[in-house]
Amino acid sequence: MPDNKNAPRDENNLVPPMDVENMAANMPHVKQMQELIDKYSSFGKHVPQPRTYTGEYVLVTGVTGGIGSHVAAQLAIRDNVKKVFCLVRANSPKHARQRVLDELEARRVGAVYDKFSPKALDKIQAFASDMAKPDLGLSPEVLEELKSTVTCVIHGAWIINFMLPLTAYAENLAATQNLINLCLSTRSPTPASFNFLSSYGSVALMPMFIPPDPTTGIISVPEVMPPTLATTDPNQGYGQSKLVAEFMCERAVAANPSLTTRAIRIGQVVGDAVTGIWNPRENIPRMWQTALLVGALPDQEIHTRMLPVDGCAGTIADLSLPPPDNSKPVPGGVFHLLGPHPILWTEDLLPMLHKLGLSFDIVPHQEWLARLRALPQDTKRFPPLKLLPVWGLWEQQRRGDKSDSLAKRNIVSPFVDWQIKRTQQHSPTFRALGPPDLKLVGAQLRWLMSEGWERDVRGQGRGGAAAGSKAMAKI
Ligand SMILES: NC(=O)c1ccc[n+]([C@@H]2O[C@H](COP(=O)([O-])OP(=O)(O)OC[C@H]3O[C@@H](n4cnc5c(N)ncnc54)[C@H](OP(=O)(O)O)[C@@H]3O)[C@@H](O)[C@H]2O)c1
Repeated sequence: MPDNKNAPRDENNLVPPMDVENMAANMPHVKQMQELIDKYSSFGKHVPQPRTYTGEYVLVTGVTGGIGSHVAAQLAIRDNVKKVFCLVRANSPKHARQRVLDELEARRVGAVYDKFSPKALDKIQAFASDMAKPDLGLSPEVLEELKSTVTCVIHGAWIINFMLPLTAYAENLAATQNLINLCLSTRSPTPASFNFLSSYGSVALMPMFIPPDPTTGIISVPEVMPPTLATTDPNQGYGQSKLVAEFMCERAVAANPSLTTRAIRIGQVVGDAVTGIWNPRENIPRMWQTALLVGALPDQEIHTRMLPVDGCAGTIADLSLPPPDNSKPVPGGVFHLLGPHPILWTEDLLPMLHKLGLSFDIVPHQEWLARLRALPQDTKRFPPLKLLPVWGLWEQQRRGDKSDSLAKRNIVSPFVDWQIKRTQQHSPTFRALGPPDLKLVGAQLRWLMSEGWERDVRGQGRGGAAAGSKAMAKI
């Protein structure tokens, strides 16, 4: 596999089992991933040219989602950013703009960022786009404008569905290729940088490949490209698709050494500490909600790494943009963007929920599952039951693993330390993040109790505008 010149690979206590390359080559999902990397890795060549514009012009995808809307807001309030171009699924330019405005409003970015003024909003421009098309579904005039101006692409638009197979992600991978090609066609001395919002799920099995520290038992996962595609979960198309895209970035850099790509592997994102608005369909909100359904939450030996969405978006902006003081640019490669202060589920988080007034017993995982199974299995009335098969599977794995070694190597295990050194080094926003406290957890719980869970019952999707009109009425 080609090396990304930017990506450190050598910290290494990373030791793939002896014949892993051979084993991996025969794994059907690895073969499929390799085929997709090959299929979507034909890239143009960048031709260096003088740039006629000054300042940062950033193209962002996924702005109608939680992280993307905050990224757009964070970029718009920065002085060195002149424009924030958003590519949006929409049927007209007006519709595209309205979708972005609705999302910013529903996420209440004005309440989260003091500096989010009408002037900042003016910087945000939306285009109706079909990113899976080589011309991104844009008019020749718009495409020309982007090629002349764009300095940085932040790509977050992705299908988030852990049940889908890898093949369902073809359009996302095509979009990734097309956006990298846009970076390579910019009229500038070096290509626009490509910043890919990946997930630590892309390398969910990486802890299996790393020996624990002999004294502490801790497995430390470095911010590097993995030695093999077999480091992703064989049963999860989502994680596989993210790793395919990370390797596409490597290929693009190999073909164009002046290109900088960054794979920003994000962990568990939660709402901001002001509004607490996040996605009620995620694992943690659905687990918390079971306290209301069965009066219990499970005792679990796991780390919870809550990363507030504003801190996440600010870090993405720090890593993607040149530093404002013109110091050395942030290098390419892999960055882990996980809550920097992990807390323990049972010892730290559950007492906070008690203090905040949520009433529940702490029971063994099996008992909690039994209580959930005793409910009428009506997922419309009780949406958390949608995750019951997944929670049941986790319990089965835990019980089947007598040595406990699989649990210790799980991505949320307290024995797995996801290194965040590179992100810390290059992001002032990330360095300033404190540990999750009653303010942050309280904001989440209050929002879920007042609106979030109700939306989930109504079958409405993500936390923002896509979730419906009630939030709009409250803004
Ligand atoms: N939230 C987390 O905890 C977390 C953790 C790890 C990684 N990430 C990554 O961070 C990024 C943003 O996540 P998020 O939580 O903000 O997600 P989100 O709220 O669900 O938003 C998803 C965004 O992707 C767009 N999208 C979905 N499917 C698409 C498709 N087939 N073609 C084009 N656009 C599509 C959506 O556009 P529409 O509105 O048009 O559907 C929306 O703008 C994703 O790449 C995700 O994988 C998130």
